[in-house]
Amino acid sequence: MSPSASRCLRSASVALCAALLVLAGCQVRTPGTIETSFIDVAKRRITVGDSSDVNPLRASAENIRAGQRNFAVYCMVCHGLDGQNTGVPFADKMSPPVPPLNSRAVQAYTDGQVHWIIKNGISPSGMPASRDIFHDEEIWQLVLYLRHLPPKGSLGEPNVYGGQ
Ligand code: HEC
Repeated sequence: MSPSASRCLRSASVALCAALLVLAGCQVRTPGTIETSFIDVAKRRITVGDSSDVNPLRASAENIRAGQRNFAVYCMVCHGLDGQNTGVPFADKMSPPVPPLNSRAVQAYTDGQVHWIIKNGISPSGMPASRDIFHDEEIWQLVLYLRHLPPKGSLGEPNVYGGQ
């Protein structure tokens, strides 16, 4: 089975997989644009839940800073301090790659969906679930930080990769 098909089996419904198998033609190769966008649409419409949940916290400087602090402790190993992969050597090499979190595609998620993604992660990609690490309020603070990311590179590189 192709990697895209087995990935799909784990993450989407049987009907979607059947469609994807047809698209993939059961060949072993990296997913093409059509399949990738198909997975993307499935992810956005079906897999990622809680789209109508509203952030109960205000976008105060304090909440955004709290989100930034937790982001700098945990998320930065993959997303960089600025959420835009600055200084993360493997960001482009992961499959799927780590997206810049200020990109249009990520920002198009509702607050409730971003909260869901942080809480549950995205299986089977490298994006881990944080529900055992952060409590709900901290996750909503992370959502606020993602809506107020600083300019790319403005926070330097994470120390773990030799930056400041
Ligand atoms: C081990 C590496 C790693 C860590 C740690 C990590 N992420 Fe991710 N993240 C990823 C990868 C890889 C993706 C791309 C997943 C995809 O497109 O399916 C991703 C995607 C995302 C997305 C966008 C999802 C999408 O569908 O485009 C958001 C939002 C996100 N991460 C937030 C966070 C936050 C907040 C944290 C910390 C609580 C975090 N991530 C920790 C690797 C990581």
